[in-house]
Amino acid sequence: MAGSRPTPADTAREAAVEAALGTLDLDTKARLLAGHDMWILPALPEIGLKPLVMSDGPIGVRGVRWTADDPSVALPSPTALAATWDPELARRAGVLLAQEARRKGVHVLLAPTVNLHRSPLGGRHFECYSEDPYLTGAIGSGYVSGVQSGGVGTTVKHFVANDAETDRFTVNNLVSERALRELYLAPFEAIVENARPWGIMTAYNTVNGTTMTEHHHLVNEVLRGEWGFDGFNVSDWMAARDTVGAANGGLDVAMPGPRTVYGEALAQAVRDGEVAEATVDAAVRRVLRLAARVGILDGAEPVVAEPPAPVDGEALAREIARRSFVLVRNESVNGHAVLPLRPNGTVALIGAAARDARVLGGGSATVFPARVVSPLDGLTAALPEGTLTYAVGADPATELAVADRGFTLKAVCRDAHGTVIGTRSAPGGLIQWMGSDLPDGVAHHTLHTVELTGTFTPRESGPHTFGIKGMGAFTLTVDGATYYDDVQRSDKDDPFEAFFGAPVPRAQTELTAGEPVDVSLTHVVRLPEGIPMKVITFALAHSAPRRDPDELIAEAVEAARNADTAVVMVATTDRVESEGFDRTDLRLPGRQDDLVRAVAAANRNTVVVVNSGSPVELPWREDVAAVLLGWFPGQEGGAALADVLTGAHEPGGRLPTTWGSLADAPVTKVTPTDGELPYTEGVFIGYRAWEKAGRTPAYPFGHGLGYTDWTYEALQADGTTARIRLRNTGARPGREVVQVYVSPAEPDPERPARLLAGFASAEAAPGESAEVTVALPRRAFEIWDEKAKAWAFVKGSYEIAAGRSIADRRLSAPINV
Ligand code: BGC
Repeated sequence: MAGSRPTPADTAREAAVEAALGTLDLDTKARLLAGHDMWILPALPEIGLKPLVMSDGPIGVRGVRWTADDPSVALPSPTALAATWDPELARRAGVLLAQEARRKGVHVLLAPTVNLHRSPLGGRHFECYSEDPYLTGAIGSGYVSGVQSGGVGTTVKHFVANDAETDRFTVNNLVSERALRELYLAPFEAIVENARPWGIMTAYNTVNGTTMTEHHHLVNEVLRGEWGFDGFNVSDWMAARDTVGAANGGLDVAMPGPRTVYGEALAQAVRDGEVAEATVDAAVRRVLRLAARVGILDGAEPVVAEPPAPVDGEALAREIARRSFVLVRNESVNGHAVLPLRPNGTVALIGAAARDARVLGGGSATVFPARVVSPLDGLTAALPEGTLTYAVGADPATELAVADRGFTLKAVCRDAHGTVIGTRSAPGGLIQWMGSDLPDGVAHHTLHTVELTGTFTPRESGPHTFGIKGMGAFTLTVDGATYYDDVQRSDKDDPFEAFFGAPVPRAQTELTAGEPVDVSLTHVVRLPEGIPMKVITFALAHSAPRRDPDELIAEAVEAARNADTAVVMVATTDRVESEGFDRTDLRLPGRQDDLVRAVAAANRNTVVVVNSGSPVELPWREDVAAVLLGWFPGQEGGAALADVLTGAHEPGGRLPTTWGSLADAPVTKVTPTDGELPYTEGVFIGYRAWEKAGRTPAYPFGHGLGYTDWTYEALQADGTTARIRLRNTGARPGREVVQVYVSPAEPDPERPARLLAGFASAEAAPGESAEVTVALPRRAFEIWDEKAKAWAFVKGSYEIAAGRSIADRRLSAPINV
């Protein structure tokens, strides 16, 4: 491993690995490299190897079952974690996740996601940390160190340039070597260097003509050769396409199973002389090394024999959430900043998301928390009785959502004769059974239908709409009447359409609040074509009666008028932000912009809380008193929001990504043309691109206010270190994220005008000063020289600036390097 010597324990583990490897024949070795199932590698009892279990990641540990029956702590989403600018907090998050993984028998967490925010339209933006590679690497390093300190492996993903979702399986991203090195590879490199990850996941996409599961240059030469990565390389799920290409391109494990390009096909490729047996041995060695590290190979001492001290997941989820909230605006009204709320003032809480917040992003990042504290719950608990009112105001959902609140459902499995062969509780309306994860007693060859059946107790009277998400034959019955009995098809040619497609409305019926009705959705199971794994996925969808939007807004305005402060929650939905597709605009869905404008006109003390994982446009932002970005805040989000609004804690976040309008955003092309997506912007993404374009975003990178003020008093810098003294000049204790930016004194159009070189946080009581020291990495003065194929240190004069955001630099000092 580059930069570190093996410990005696490493050496002993390697000996155990070699001993085990030496006893395996070719067929067994090839079998070990192929998923046995959706999440598991095969056990090899003959060498004392237990099955290796993997699970998503990154905000919790879902486990091998996709069900609310098997809950996991849900931490805030990755954009939120990055907004804390606190690698130590990310490390603590990792320790908790290791604890969750151990509880569920999981050995490897399929996380963290360290692709970059190249464009705000990227569908998995919420699941990545930042537009900046340094910040991404720092947070990712903390996270990986934390998980692995609990004895659980990680797979840093998705290597590399999986920065958007459109045609993600096939897109050929054309990226210059310089942009790869300076941007997209940089977080992976930093994490390998700082945290020694035990795994990496190679992406679906192609880079410069070679698909990432076969990328000999980037995997074997760069990742392993140059950086000294000694972990295992697993394909993204179904990303491995070619036995010989993948094996020779450095892919160790093809997931999921049981049908993969490895196993028998790999053994045959060796016999045919297309893959060297030594290549298979090297892959097996890495898998056995992983097994030894996590403690499932007999005779090898795990890296962590004693798990770390238990972590309180709920408390940590709440702490991370409040530390992640970014207060981007906090104006004074009548001489008082509108936040924190004045004690005993009345509050009108408005917005559908205030009652049903979106606490996590969609797709493989989904976990099922045991409880969710909504903003309404959190504020009800925190504010004095009688001071809080609630109004819906506007509903961001423009489509049906998976059945949830008010539904009590179970799944009943039947064979072709209609005999019940198994049941499972289904707390929500979503069935997602993968691989061998089926209810007890049920097997794929006996299963004919799955019926979701139970009751629905409406919260509101009026016309309720029911629908179906999924492909194939369905029968939908509500309150005894059959509304649909047909086959649902898609015109899209995407194997994942059943996961990510929109629910289709199929029934509407008048219901009365509080009066339960029977509901049933039966699906005739047919395993999907084009997916080499067994997946049964469909959902019962629902939407409550839609009230007249103008009436809803009028009600909210009335509530706002009668309160001292109006707190409006605006949100995106899972049809707007999710894995599987990119966004087409950055607007808030539904009538939410109209709602905010109307409420702001009625109450000067209007606070808007934004519940989204990625940037959205806030066209009314200058018309409201305060704007708080609340991300997807995890299961304790509502409690954390109350902490911050009441002032029990200050909001601690700083923007990990520039927020601006789509019209101004510099990089917006995420759709390939003829299969290719050229990264024509080169090294200019995020703030690098905003600065180059000379445009002013709504809120710059690094921006975020606390509840106190800071004066930057002194900066001393040389080529390796910046030392900053600052003083808390406000009225309460606080925490400041001191950011250090480096810019070449002579502008160079080929280089970013400025980049984040480091950061540190300071805490001080009112009137007190604090000093922080920030190490300046050599990389801040280097560029990738494409001709020399090497890093080049650019000597000369630079400005070192310290400040509160990229746009709010308080002190600067010239240096020569
Ligand atoms: C995602 C990965 C995930 C995997 C397993 C893929 O579709 O891209 O991030 O780990 O599924 O759920």
